[in-house]
Amino acid sequence: MQKVTSVTEMRTLAEELRSKDQIIGLVPTMGALHEGHLSLIRQAAEQADTVVVSIFVNPTQFGPSEDFSKYPRDLEADLKRCEEAGADIVFAPTVEEIYPKGYSTFVTEEFVGKPLEGVSRPTHFRGVTTVVAILFNIVRPDLAVFGQKDAQQVAVIRKMVQDLQFTVDIVTAPTLRETEGLALSSRNRYLSNNQRLESLAISEALRYAKGMVEKGELRSDRLIAEATHILGEKRRVRIIYISVVDRTTMEAMREVVPGQSLLAIAAWVDEVRLIDNVLL
Ligand code: PAF
Repeated sequence: MQKVTSVTEMRTLAEELRSKDQIIGLVPTMGALHEGHLSLIRQAAEQADTVVVSIFVNPTQFGPSEDFSKYPRDLEADLKRCEEAGADIVFAPTVEEIYPKGYSTFVTEEFVGKPLEGVSRPTHFRGVTTVVAILFNIVRPDLAVFGQKDAQQVAVIRKMVQDLQFTVDIVTAPTLRETEGLALSSRNRYLSNNQRLESLAISEALRYAKGMVEKGELRSDRLIAEATHILGEKRRVRIIYISVVDRTTMEAMREVVPGQSLLAIAAWVDEVRLIDNVLL
């Protein structure tokens, strides 16, 4: 496995691979890799000849009161995990490589990113789409793999790809969960034992709602009421949003359309912000 830090070197390497007709798969990450990321890398390895994993804690997607400087960083451990999961190249640029002095261009998707996360984190997706567009232009991958746990992020990126005519295929990989149901996330490491226990209410609420749909309940308000009740029983959990939305547009839906609707939840567990969702 090769580690690359310079944009020029990464671009040249990718050009060489393309000239040999290699299918390039990109897995964009911010590091602090856990099993969820490794499953994305494995998925990319199944579909591509060469897997590039980018590790870049992207400052533009953090709001002013968010945890950019505190975001966990452990490049050595990440490199080991990438190699074990089947990555061929790790692209780990500095902030100055991606955003050189005087950088002033941003990519903004203006519809799919507005509700849910967009309400409490209004500049977040602008940072995500900007850095993902930059990575796509440097690596020019044939496919890129993202986790379904960040369902709105996937929807925003798909829309950007469609609108800006990128030719990359966006592949979505299923959410990995701990045995009790907690969705894997780099932020889980901030949870104390008690907080972890209470956070299980999020996946429990999603499972319960999915069960209701399987029994024929399609009214979003009823699903939301039950899920809200489950979350409300936990002292440390405060709901940020809970909504039944269209999986492509993120628009709220009054009725579930099986296979097309998502129940999305964001909640504070004390000071740790968690998100999760389930396809209904
Ligand atoms: O999901 C993430 O880790 C980030 O939002 C991404 C896609 C790597 C962009 O920085």
